[in-house]
Amino acid sequence: MSRAVHVIDHPLVQHKLTLMRRKDTSTKSFRELAHEVSILLAYELTREMPMQEIEIETPLEKMTSRIIDGKKIVLASILRAGNGFLDGMLQVLPAARVGHIGLYRDPATLKAVEYYFKMPQDMAERDVIVLDPMLATGNSAVAAVDRLKQTQPRSLRFVCLVACPEGIKNFHDHHPDVPIYTPAVDRGLNEHGYIVPGLGDAGDRIFGTK
Ligand code: URA
Repeated sequence: MSRAVHVIDHPLVQHKLTLMRRKDTSTKSFRELAHEVSILLAYELTREMPMQEIEIETPLEKMTSRIIDGKKIVLASILRAGNGFLDGMLQVLPAARVGHIGLYRDPATLKAVEYYFKMPQDMAERDVIVLDPMLATGNSAVAAVDRLKQTQPRSLRFVCLVACPEGIKNFHDHHPDVPIYTPAVDRGLNEHGYIVPGLGDAGDRIFGTK
């Protein structure tokens, strides 16, 4: 199986991620940067989406042209930090459907516990992009994709801002068929399950709740 990891090394993405990592970056700036990075990530991770040809008519003549195939893409946000990607992604995928997966991390076991799950209809005809800024232990991402696979979507992709080797291994041990898109693979996890050097708690930084 494929265990694909696409590292998004684009200079604009890397520059913005560096600004986000800095501890003195304000909530306002962090949120704006999350928005900007999301647009760039959406561009990269839709690169290989299946296309279909349709007949259209320009003001001058008929032609065959391409559009993204299938029903509208689903952005599946893992609450709450995944929501930080939504505005930016929806700017370039304005007709996308949005699903939510509520998972919290049990502080003792670091395991993911589901409390909310809502997806659109017709998942078998949809390509799903799972959003979670930090692929840390990978437990939430694994649980989210376990649950999403029950809806039998046409395809799944996972996107984050920062990953680490432990999270990637755990995720692909469970879901080798789901490609990961990430701008960074950091050194590892600390004893609290945070990615180091990382950027701290992504949810707190997006929502200013520290
Ligand atoms: N969740 C975060 O927000 N940050 C980490 O480093 C790990 C999990």
